[in-house]
Amino acid sequence: MNLALFRQTDSSDIPLRGTDVGNLLEAVHRRYNVRSNDQGTSRYIVGQLIKFGEAIGAIDPRTYAIQYARFRALKVLDLACGCEGYMKEAERNGRNTGGASANFFGPWLCRTLSMLEANVTGVDREFPRSIVKTEKKGRNPKRVGMPESEWIFVQRDLTQLDAIDQEHFPDNSFDAVSCTRFIGNKSGPVEVHGTILDPVSILGSAAPLADTWEMRELWEEDNEAYCRTLKGIREAAQRILREGGVFMLNTDVEIKTNGALKTRMP
Ligand SMILES: C[S@@+](CC[C@H](N)C(=O)[O-])C[C@H]1O[C@@H](n2cnc3c(N)ncnc32)[C@H](O)[C@@H]1O
Repeated sequence: MNLALFRQTDSSDIPLRGTDVGNLLEAVHRRYNVRSNDQGTSRYIVGQLIKFGEAIGAIDPRTYAIQYARFRALKVLDLACGCEGYMKEAERNGRNTGGASANFFGPWLCRTLSMLEANVTGVDREFPRSIVKTEKKGRNPKRVGMPESEWIFVQRDLTQLDAIDQEHFPDNSFDAVSCTRFIGNKSGPVEVHGTILDPVSILGSAAPLADTWEMRELWEEDNEAYCRTLKGIREAAQRILREGGVFMLNTDVEIKTNGALKTRMP
């Protein structure tokens, strides 16, 4: 996974203090005890929120003004939403995390959107703030989550068929679906904020840049399973979004139009 790509998408050049987004960020710091010197995580939280806000036309990226009414009761699904255990596990597995804090890939979009009174469901393989509980003398270690009652967490492995099943995720029931930094939507060079990034020169591989480490390995070891996972996510988004709903896959935004996902015209 290329962490530099993610940093590059952060919005950090405009002073936030006193803006709507700045005030929200302060509230997030207080609510979730984010350390004031963890600037990487702060920038990431802001970048993620602004990108989503832009996608639904509810945050002005120049002034950081939030149209609060657009978020209220908005039904959002965040796929591979993030969890604190992710970076810790990456370190244990010897991945290069670029010194990012354990908080970095927490479920920040779920948290910020729920603070804006959206109706949020997050899906991930692992619970947010996961802790390992061991039952009976070290046997059956089990990951469990600390409850965050403001939003709903559903545990799923997105590489499994029917991970987003019809019973729990009914047709035409969400206003927006987001899936970022889990699986890449395109291979080959991508443009991020005016810079062309080429996966072959950055990763030494043609795997899409936004892949997690696991998805990059899946791309290389079982490309069919990789394509099935990506297709499954797109099909699920198309099915569960209401007409006019927004699908954000990394930096791409599509709108459900006449039942199909269509790229929004600039
Ligand atoms: C790099 S983080 C991205 C988090 C968040 N979406 C973001 O943009 O910051 C990748 C997340 O994907 C989750 N993940 C990895 N493999 C998964 C799988 N097979 N099914 C569901 N979630 C998975 C990890 O647990 C982690 O929380």
